[in-house]
Amino acid sequence: MSDIDRLFQQNDKIFERWNLREIPFTESASSLRSQTLDRVFTGRVEELKQVVPLLRGRERKRVLVYGWTGIGKSAFILEVLQGLQRNDSQAKVAYITLQPNMDLGTAALIALAREMPEDEWAQRQLNEMGLGNLIRQRDSEIGGQLGISAKFTEKILDVEPTKYPALAFEGLLERALKTSDRVAIGIDDLDKQDPARVRQLLEDAQGMLKGDAWFFLSGHPGGLTRDLVNRERGLFDLSLELNPFDVDTTYTMLKKYLASARIKDISDNDEVAALHPFTPETARILCEKSSGIPRWFNRSASYILLRAANLEADKITLDILEAGLEYAKVQLRGQTGFTAEEAYLLQLILGKGILSDENITLGELERMGVKEFNEILPMINALVQQDLVRLLPDDRAIAIAPNPILQAE
Ligand SMILES: Nc1ncnc2c1ncn2[C@@H]1O[C@H](COP(=O)(O)OP(=O)(O)O)[C@@H](O)[C@H]1O
Ligand SMILES: [Mg+2]
Repeated sequence: MSDIDRLFQQNDKIFERWNLREIPFTESASSLRSQTLDRVFTGRVEELKQVVPLLRGRERKRVLVYGWTGIGKSAFILEVLQGLQRNDSQAKVAYITLQPNMDLGTAALIALAREMPEDEWAQRQLNEMGLGNLIRQRDSEIGGQLGISAKFTEKILDVEPTKYPALAFEGLLERALKTSDRVAIGIDDLDKQDPARVRQLLEDAQGMLKGDAWFFLSGHPGGLTRDLVNRERGLFDLSLELNPFDVDTTYTMLKKYLASARIKDISDNDEVAALHPFTPETARILCEKSSGIPRWFNRSASYILLRAANLEADKITLDILEAGLEYAKVQLRGQTGFTAEEAYLLQLILGKGILSDENITLGELERMGVKEFNEILPMINALVQQDLVRLLPDDRAIAIAPNPILQAE
Protein backbone atom coordinates (compact mmCIF):
# COMPACT_ATOMS: atom_id res chain seq x y z
CA MET A 1 0.00 0.00 0.00
CA SER A 2 1.32 3.47 -0.81
CA ASP A 3 2.15 5.83 2.04
CA ILE A 4 -0.63 8.23 1.17
CA ASP A 5 -3.26 5.48 1.17
CA ARG A 6 -2.02 4.21 4.51
CA LEU A 7 -2.15 7.73 5.95
CA PHE A 8 -5.69 8.23 4.69
CA GLN A 9 -6.74 4.98 6.33
CA GLN A 10 -5.07 5.83 9.61
CA ASN A 11 -6.76 9.18 9.56
CA ASP A 12 -10.13 7.58 8.82
CA LYS A 13 -9.68 5.30 11.81
CA ILE A 14 -9.05 8.17 14.18
CA PHE A 15 -12.10 10.02 12.95
CA GLU A 16 -14.13 6.86 13.36
CA ARG A 17 -12.96 6.56 16.94
CA TRP A 18 -13.92 10.19 17.46
CA ASN A 19 -17.32 9.49 15.90
CA LEU A 20 -16.74 12.42 13.53
CA ARG A 21 -17.02 12.47 9.75
CA GLU A 22 -14.75 15.50 9.50
CA ILE A 23 -13.48 18.48 11.43
CA PRO A 24 -16.67 20.50 11.83
CA PHE A 25 -15.11 23.85 12.74
CA THR A 26 -14.85 26.68 10.19
CA GLU A 27 -13.48 30.19 10.30
CA SER A 28 -16.07 31.98 8.22
CA ALA A 29 -19.84 31.76 8.28
CA SER A 30 -20.23 31.99 4.53
CA SER A 31 -18.29 28.77 4.02
CA LEU A 32 -20.96 26.85 5.92
CA ARG A 33 -23.79 25.34 3.91
CA SER A 34 -27.12 26.71 4.96
CA GLN A 35 -28.29 23.53 6.67
CA THR A 36 -25.06 23.26 8.59
CA LEU A 37 -25.24 26.85 9.77
CA ASP A 38 -28.68 26.20 11.13
CA ARG A 39 -27.46 23.10 12.98
CA VAL A 40 -24.51 24.80 14.62
CA PHE A 41 -25.99 28.24 15.19
CA THR A 42 -25.92 28.95 18.92
CA GLY A 43 -27.19 31.62 21.27
CA ARG A 44 -28.07 35.18 20.20
CA VAL A 45 -31.60 34.54 21.42
CA GLU A 46 -32.04 38.06 22.79
CA GLU A 47 -30.90 39.54 19.48
CA LEU A 48 -33.18 37.23 17.48
CA LYS A 49 -36.06 38.21 19.73
CA GLN A 50 -35.60 41.78 18.63
CA VAL A 51 -35.41 40.95 14.95
CA VAL A 52 -38.17 38.38 14.46
CA PRO A 53 -41.11 40.64 15.39
CA LEU A 54 -39.81 43.24 12.94
CA LEU A 55 -39.88 40.66 10.21
CA ARG A 56 -43.48 39.87 11.04
CA GLY A 57 -44.55 43.46 10.53
CA ARG A 58 -45.69 44.92 7.25
CA GLU A 59 -43.48 47.94 7.37
CA ARG A 60 -39.98 47.38 6.01
CA LYS A 61 -37.09 47.97 8.39
CA ARG A 62 -33.37 48.63 8.38
CA VAL A 63 -31.21 46.71 10.81
CA LEU A 64 -27.56 47.32 11.58
CA VAL A 65 -25.59 44.43 13.07
CA TYR A 66 -22.23 45.39 14.46
CA GLY A 67 -19.43 43.82 16.42
CA TRP A 68 -15.79 42.91 16.04
CA THR A 69 -14.28 40.56 13.50
CA GLY A 70 -15.19 36.96 14.17
CA ILE A 71 -17.95 37.75 16.65
CA GLY A 72 -20.63 36.28 14.37
CA LYS A 73 -22.14 39.07 12.26
CA SER A 74 -22.23 37.06 9.03
CA ALA A 75 -23.54 33.99 10.83
CA PHE A 76 -26.27 36.09 12.44
CA ILE A 77 -27.39 37.75 9.22
CA LEU A 78 -27.39 34.45 7.33
CA GLU A 79 -29.33 32.74 10.11
CA VAL A 80 -31.95 35.50 10.12
CA LEU A 81 -32.33 35.47 6.34
CA GLN A 82 -32.54 31.70 6.17
CA GLY A 83 -34.99 31.62 9.06
CA LEU A 84 -37.16 34.16 7.26
CA GLN A 85 -37.03 32.10 4.08
CA ARG A 86 -38.05 28.92 5.91
CA ASN A 87 -40.86 30.51 7.86
CA ASP A 88 -42.31 32.86 5.28
CA SER A 89 -42.73 31.29 1.89
CA GLN A 90 -43.78 34.67 0.48
CA ALA A 91 -40.46 36.28 1.33
CA LYS A 92 -37.52 36.67 -1.00
CA VAL A 93 -34.12 36.94 0.64
CA ALA A 94 -30.76 37.91 -0.79
CA TYR A 95 -27.29 38.20 0.66
CA ILE A 96 -24.05 39.73 -0.53
CA THR A 97 -20.66 40.60 0.87
CA LEU A 98 -19.89 44.21 0.04
CA GLN A 99 -16.77 44.39 -2.12
CA PRO A 100 -14.14 47.13 -2.03
CA ASN A 101 -15.18 50.02 -4.28
CA MET A 102 -18.74 48.79 -4.56
CA ASP A 103 -21.65 51.07 -3.69
CA LEU A 104 -24.69 49.86 -1.82
CA GLY A 105 -27.02 50.21 -4.80
CA THR A 106 -24.83 47.94 -6.90
CA ALA A 107 -24.51 45.46 -4.05
CA ALA A 108 -28.28 45.32 -3.54
CA LEU A 109 -28.88 45.05 -7.27
CA ILE A 110 -26.48 42.11 -7.67
CA ALA A 111 -27.77 40.37 -4.56
CA LEU A 112 -31.40 40.56 -5.65
CA ALA A 113 -30.73 39.83 -9.33
CA ARG A 114 -28.99 36.60 -8.37
CA GLU A 115 -32.10 35.47 -6.55
CA MET A 116 -34.29 36.14 -9.59
CA PRO A 117 -33.01 33.71 -12.22
CA GLU A 118 -36.40 33.81 -13.94
CA ASP A 119 -36.22 37.55 -14.49
CA GLU A 120 -34.63 38.18 -17.84
CA TRP A 121 -34.04 41.83 -17.13
CA ALA A 122 -32.20 40.95 -13.91
CA GLN A 123 -30.07 38.45 -15.73
CA ARG A 124 -29.21 41.03 -18.35
CA GLN A 125 -28.09 43.39 -15.60
CA LEU A 126 -25.81 40.71 -14.25
CA ASN A 127 -24.44 40.00 -17.68
CA GLU A 128 -23.74 43.68 -18.23
CA MET A 129 -21.71 43.64 -15.05
CA GLY A 130 -19.82 40.60 -16.21
CA LEU A 131 -21.50 38.43 -13.58
CA GLY A 132 -23.66 36.35 -15.87
CA ASN A 133 -21.62 33.17 -15.47
CA LEU A 134 -22.03 33.40 -11.75
CA ILE A 135 -25.67 32.49 -12.17
CA ARG A 136 -24.84 29.47 -14.26
CA GLN A 137 -22.28 28.32 -11.72
CA ARG A 138 -24.66 28.69 -8.88
CA ASP A 139 -27.54 27.08 -10.63
CA SER A 140 -25.53 23.92 -11.04
CA GLU A 141 -25.48 23.69 -7.25
CA ILE A 142 -28.54 22.89 -5.22
CA GLY A 143 -29.83 26.27 -6.32
CA GLY A 144 -31.11 29.30 -4.48
CA GLN A 145 -29.31 28.31 -1.28
CA LEU A 146 -28.06 31.36 0.51
CA GLY A 147 -24.96 29.70 1.80
CA ILE A 148 -23.96 28.92 -1.70
CA SER A 149 -24.54 32.31 -3.23
CA ALA A 150 -22.61 33.69 -0.28
CA LYS A 151 -19.64 31.59 -1.25
CA PHE A 152 -19.58 32.89 -4.77
CA THR A 153 -19.90 36.53 -3.80
CA GLU A 154 -16.45 36.26 -2.29
CA LYS A 155 -15.12 35.95 -5.82
CA ILE A 156 -16.68 39.09 -7.28
CA LEU A 157 -14.10 41.80 -7.48
CA ASP A 158 -13.83 45.16 -9.17
CA VAL A 159 -17.31 45.27 -10.55
CA GLU A 160 -17.86 47.92 -13.17
CA PRO A 161 -20.73 49.91 -11.65
CA THR A 162 -23.83 50.53 -13.73
CA LYS A 163 -24.71 54.16 -14.18
CA TYR A 164 -27.72 54.28 -11.87
CA PRO A 165 -27.57 51.14 -9.72
CA ALA A 166 -30.00 52.41 -7.09
CA LEU A 167 -32.60 53.16 -9.76
CA ALA A 168 -31.97 49.85 -11.44
CA PHE A 169 -32.45 48.19 -8.06
CA GLU A 170 -35.73 50.02 -7.53
CA GLY A 171 -37.07 48.66 -10.78
CA LEU A 172 -36.02 45.15 -9.95
CA LEU A 173 -37.43 45.38 -6.45
CA GLU A 174 -40.78 46.46 -7.82
CA ARG A 175 -40.80 43.38 -10.00
CA ALA A 176 -39.79 41.13 -7.10
CA LEU A 177 -42.59 42.51 -4.97
CA LYS A 178 -45.13 41.39 -7.57
CA THR A 179 -44.44 37.79 -6.65
CA SER A 180 -43.09 38.12 -3.09
CA ASP A 181 -44.66 39.77 -0.08
CA ARG A 182 -41.40 41.05 1.19
CA VAL A 183 -37.81 41.29 0.10
CA ALA A 184 -34.97 41.19 2.64
CA ILE A 185 -31.44 41.98 1.62
CA GLY A 186 -28.32 41.39 3.69
CA ILE A 187 -25.31 43.50 2.79
CA ASP A 188 -22.44 42.17 4.84
CA ASP A 189 -19.07 43.72 5.69
CA LEU A 190 -19.60 47.44 5.28
CA ASP A 191 -16.25 47.76 6.99
CA LYS A 192 -14.41 46.54 3.93
CA GLN A 193 -14.53 50.26 3.08
CA ASP A 194 -12.82 52.99 5.04
CA PRO A 195 -15.02 54.82 7.57
CA ALA A 196 -15.34 58.08 5.67
CA ARG A 197 -16.45 56.19 2.60
CA VAL A 198 -19.00 54.14 4.50
CA ARG A 199 -20.67 57.31 5.69
CA GLN A 200 -20.73 58.57 2.11
CA LEU A 201 -22.10 55.25 0.86
CA LEU A 202 -24.93 55.34 3.36
CA GLU A 203 -25.74 58.92 2.54
CA ASP A 204 -25.82 58.15 -1.17
CA ALA A 205 -28.03 55.13 -0.56
CA GLN A 206 -30.55 56.80 1.76
CA GLY A 207 -33.27 56.75 -0.88
CA MET A 208 -32.79 53.07 -1.54
CA LEU A 209 -32.47 52.16 2.13
CA LYS A 210 -35.70 53.95 2.89
CA GLY A 211 -37.45 52.21 0.02
CA ASP A 212 -39.51 49.04 -0.02
CA ALA A 213 -37.00 46.37 0.99
CA TRP A 214 -35.84 45.16 4.39
CA PHE A 215 -32.11 45.71 4.85
CA PHE A 216 -29.60 44.01 7.12
CA LEU A 217 -26.22 45.69 7.16
CA SER A 218 -23.15 44.69 9.12
CA GLY A 219 -19.84 46.19 10.04
CA HIS A 220 -17.31 46.28 12.84
CA PRO A 221 -17.09 49.19 15.21
CA GLY A 222 -13.62 50.42 14.29
CA GLY A 223 -14.67 54.01 14.71
CA LEU A 224 -17.11 53.57 11.90
CA THR A 225 -20.07 51.78 13.29
CA ARG A 226 -20.13 53.38 16.71
CA ASP A 227 -20.26 56.64 14.85
CA LEU A 228 -23.06 55.37 12.69
CA VAL A 229 -25.00 54.17 15.66
CA ASN A 230 -24.69 57.53 17.30
CA ARG A 231 -25.12 59.82 14.36
CA GLU A 232 -27.39 58.03 11.96
CA ARG A 233 -30.01 56.83 14.40
CA GLY A 234 -32.73 57.83 12.01
CA LEU A 235 -31.39 55.59 9.31
CA PHE A 236 -31.62 52.36 11.29
CA ASP A 237 -34.71 51.04 13.01
CA LEU A 238 -32.58 48.68 15.05
CA SER A 239 -28.87 48.56 15.85
CA LEU A 240 -27.70 45.29 17.32
CA GLU A 241 -24.31 44.93 18.91
CA LEU A 242 -23.06 41.35 19.03
CA ASN A 243 -20.96 40.65 22.10
CA PRO A 244 -18.73 37.70 23.07
CA PHE A 245 -20.44 34.55 24.36
CA ASP A 246 -20.18 33.46 27.96
CA VAL A 247 -18.39 30.16 28.61
CA ASP A 248 -21.61 28.14 28.90
CA THR A 249 -22.86 29.32 25.50
CA THR A 250 -19.48 28.50 23.96
CA TYR A 251 -19.75 25.05 25.56
CA THR A 252 -23.16 24.55 23.95
CA MET A 253 -21.71 25.74 20.67
CA LEU A 254 -18.94 23.12 20.90
CA LYS A 255 -21.51 20.36 21.32
CA LYS A 256 -23.53 21.63 18.36
CA TYR A 257 -20.52 21.73 16.06
CA LEU A 258 -19.54 18.21 17.08
CA ALA A 259 -23.13 16.99 16.67
CA SER A 260 -23.20 18.38 13.11
CA ALA A 261 -20.45 15.93 12.06
CA ARG A 262 -21.32 12.78 13.99
CA ILE A 263 -21.14 9.45 12.20
CA LYS A 264 -23.44 7.74 14.67
CA ASP A 265 -26.14 9.66 16.50
CA ILE A 266 -25.77 9.93 20.25
CA SER A 267 -28.42 10.14 22.87
CA ASP A 268 -29.42 13.59 24.05
CA ASN A 269 -28.41 13.28 27.65
CA ASP A 270 -25.05 11.59 27.16
CA GLU A 271 -22.84 14.55 27.95
CA VAL A 272 -19.57 12.62 27.65
CA ALA A 273 -20.48 11.26 24.20
CA ALA A 274 -21.62 14.73 23.13
CA LEU A 275 -18.19 16.17 23.92
CA HIS A 276 -16.10 13.26 22.66
CA PRO A 277 -13.21 13.35 21.68
CA PHE A 278 -12.96 16.24 24.13
CA THR A 279 -13.31 15.41 27.79
CA PRO A 280 -15.51 17.65 29.92
CA GLU A 281 -12.35 19.14 31.36
CA THR A 282 -10.54 19.87 28.09
CA ALA A 283 -13.79 21.09 26.49
CA ARG A 284 -14.14 23.63 29.26
CA ILE A 285 -10.55 24.84 28.87
CA LEU A 286 -10.99 25.23 25.12
CA CYS A 287 -14.15 27.28 25.69
CA GLU A 288 -12.46 29.48 28.26
CA LYS A 289 -9.52 30.09 25.96
CA SER A 290 -11.67 31.32 23.11
CA SER A 291 -12.79 34.44 24.97
CA GLY A 292 -16.34 33.96 23.72
CA ILE A 293 -15.38 34.87 20.16
CA PRO A 294 -16.88 32.25 17.82
CA ARG A 295 -14.09 32.57 15.29
CA TRP A 296 -11.34 32.15 17.90
CA PHE A 297 -13.22 29.13 19.16
CA ASN A 298 -13.49 27.62 15.68
CA ARG A 299 -9.86 28.24 14.88
CA SER A 300 -8.47 26.80 18.11
CA ALA A 301 -10.81 23.83 18.08
CA SER A 302 -9.80 22.92 14.56
CA TYR A 303 -6.07 23.28 15.30
CA ILE A 304 -6.49 21.06 18.34
CA LEU A 305 -8.24 18.32 16.36
CA LEU A 306 -5.64 18.52 13.60
CA ARG A 307 -2.83 18.09 16.10
CA ALA A 308 -4.66 15.30 17.90
CA ALA A 309 -5.21 13.44 14.61
CA ASN A 310 -1.54 13.87 13.92
CA LEU A 311 -0.70 12.35 17.30
CA GLU A 312 -3.29 9.60 16.71
CA ALA A 313 -4.90 10.45 20.00
CA ASP A 314 -8.17 8.70 20.88
CA LYS A 315 -9.14 11.48 23.23
CA ILE A 316 -8.24 15.09 23.81
CA THR A 317 -6.68 14.58 27.21
CA LEU A 318 -4.92 17.42 29.01
CA ASP A 319 -1.60 16.47 27.38
CA ILE A 320 -3.09 16.38 23.91
CA LEU A 321 -4.90 19.65 24.52
CA GLU A 322 -1.62 21.25 25.51
CA ALA A 323 0.03 20.00 22.33
CA GLY A 324 -2.95 21.29 20.33
CA LEU A 325 -2.82 24.71 21.95
CA GLU A 326 0.90 24.90 21.31
CA TYR A 327 0.24 24.08 17.67
CA ALA A 328 -2.48 26.75 17.53
CA LYS A 329 -0.07 29.25 19.02
CA VAL A 330 2.59 28.47 16.41
CA GLN A 331 0.00 28.77 13.63
CA LEU A 332 -1.30 32.09 14.90
CA ARG A 333 2.19 33.49 15.40
CA GLY A 334 3.30 32.16 12.05
CA GLN A 335 0.85 34.27 10.07
CA THR A 336 2.67 36.59 7.71
CA GLY A 337 2.11 40.03 6.35
CA PHE A 338 2.83 42.10 9.45
CA THR A 339 4.89 45.23 9.42
CA ALA A 340 7.73 45.54 11.93
CA GLU A 341 5.59 48.03 13.85
CA GLU A 342 2.66 45.61 14.09
CA ALA A 343 4.95 42.85 15.31
CA TYR A 344 6.29 45.24 17.94
CA LEU A 345 2.75 46.21 18.94
CA LEU A 346 1.84 42.55 19.43
CA GLN A 347 4.89 42.07 21.67
CA LEU A 348 3.81 45.10 23.64
CA ILE A 349 0.27 43.79 24.15
CA LEU A 350 1.59 40.37 25.16
CA GLY A 351 4.01 41.98 27.60
CA LYS A 352 1.42 44.20 29.25
CA GLY A 353 -1.46 41.75 29.24
CA ILE A 354 -3.83 44.60 28.51
CA LEU A 355 -2.76 47.61 26.52
CA SER A 356 -4.62 50.90 26.67
CA ASP A 357 -3.94 54.56 26.06
CA GLU A 358 -3.29 54.78 29.77
CA ASN A 359 -0.41 52.36 30.03
CA ILE A 360 1.37 53.00 26.74
CA THR A 361 4.43 55.24 26.91
CA LEU A 362 5.51 58.00 24.57
CA GLY A 363 8.66 56.02 23.81
CA GLU A 364 6.58 52.99 22.79
CA LEU A 365 4.44 55.11 20.50
CA GLU A 366 7.56 56.60 18.97
CA ARG A 367 8.96 53.17 18.22
CA MET A 368 5.88 52.60 16.10
CA GLY A 369 6.47 55.89 14.33
CA VAL A 370 3.47 57.70 15.80
CA LYS A 371 2.78 60.37 18.40
CA GLU A 372 -0.74 59.57 19.53
CA PHE A 373 -2.58 56.44 20.54
CA ASN A 374 -5.27 56.96 17.91
CA GLU A 375 -2.71 56.58 15.19
CA ILE A 376 -2.07 52.93 16.08
CA LEU A 377 -5.73 51.98 15.57
CA PRO A 378 -5.10 50.68 12.03
CA MET A 379 -2.27 48.50 13.39
CA ILE A 380 -4.52 47.19 16.12
CA ASN A 381 -7.10 46.41 13.50
CA ALA A 382 -4.55 44.44 11.47
CA LEU A 383 -3.87 42.29 14.56
CA VAL A 384 -7.62 41.91 15.23
CA GLN A 385 -8.14 40.67 11.68
CA GLN A 386 -5.60 37.91 12.29
CA ASP A 387 -7.26 36.81 15.55
CA LEU A 388 -4.23 37.83 17.58
CA VAL A 389 -5.83 40.46 19.80
CA ARG A 390 -9.26 41.74 20.65
CA LEU A 391 -10.72 44.97 21.94
CA LEU A 392 -12.21 44.71 25.36
CA PRO A 393 -15.79 45.91 25.61
CA ASP A 394 -15.46 49.39 27.01
CA ASP A 395 -17.24 52.47 25.74
CA ARG A 396 -14.94 55.07 27.15
CA ALA A 397 -11.43 53.80 26.59
CA ILE A 398 -9.71 51.51 24.16
CA ALA A 399 -8.19 48.45 25.80
CA ILE A 400 -6.64 45.57 23.89
CA ALA A 401 -6.05 42.03 25.14
CA PRO A 402 -4.14 39.25 23.41
CA ASN A 403 -5.63 35.94 22.30
CA PRO A 404 -5.06 33.71 25.36
CA ILE A 405 -3.72 31.00 23.05
CA LEU A 406 -0.66 33.16 22.49
CA GLN A 407 0.06 33.18 26.19
CA ALA A 408 -0.08 29.40 26.57
CA GLU A 409 3.10 28.05 28.14
N1 LIG B 1 -24.04 32.14 16.89
C1 LIG B 1 -23.15 31.31 16.33
N2 LIG B 1 -23.28 29.97 16.45
C2 LIG B 1 -22.40 29.13 15.90
N3 LIG B 1 -21.34 29.52 15.19
C3 LIG B 1 -21.13 30.85 15.03
C4 LIG B 1 -22.02 31.79 15.60
N4 LIG B 1 -21.57 33.04 15.30
C5 LIG B 1 -20.47 32.84 14.56
N5 LIG B 1 -20.18 31.54 14.39
C6 LIG B 1 -19.06 30.99 13.64
O1 LIG B 1 -17.87 31.68 13.99
C7 LIG B 1 -17.10 32.01 12.83
C8 LIG B 1 -16.97 33.51 12.69
O2 LIG B 1 -18.26 34.08 12.53
P1 LIG B 1 -18.63 35.19 11.42
O3 LIG B 1 -20.10 35.28 11.34
O4 LIG B 1 -17.90 34.89 10.15
O5 LIG B 1 -18.02 36.49 12.11
P2 LIG B 1 -18.01 38.00 11.59
O6 LIG B 1 -18.86 38.07 10.38
O7 LIG B 1 -18.52 38.82 12.72
O8 LIG B 1 -16.55 38.29 11.32
C9 LIG B 1 -17.81 31.33 11.68
O9 LIG B 1 -17.27 30.05 11.48
C10 LIG B 1 -19.23 31.22 12.16
O10 LIG B 1 -19.93 30.18 11.53
MG1 LIG C 1 -18.39 38.44 8.40
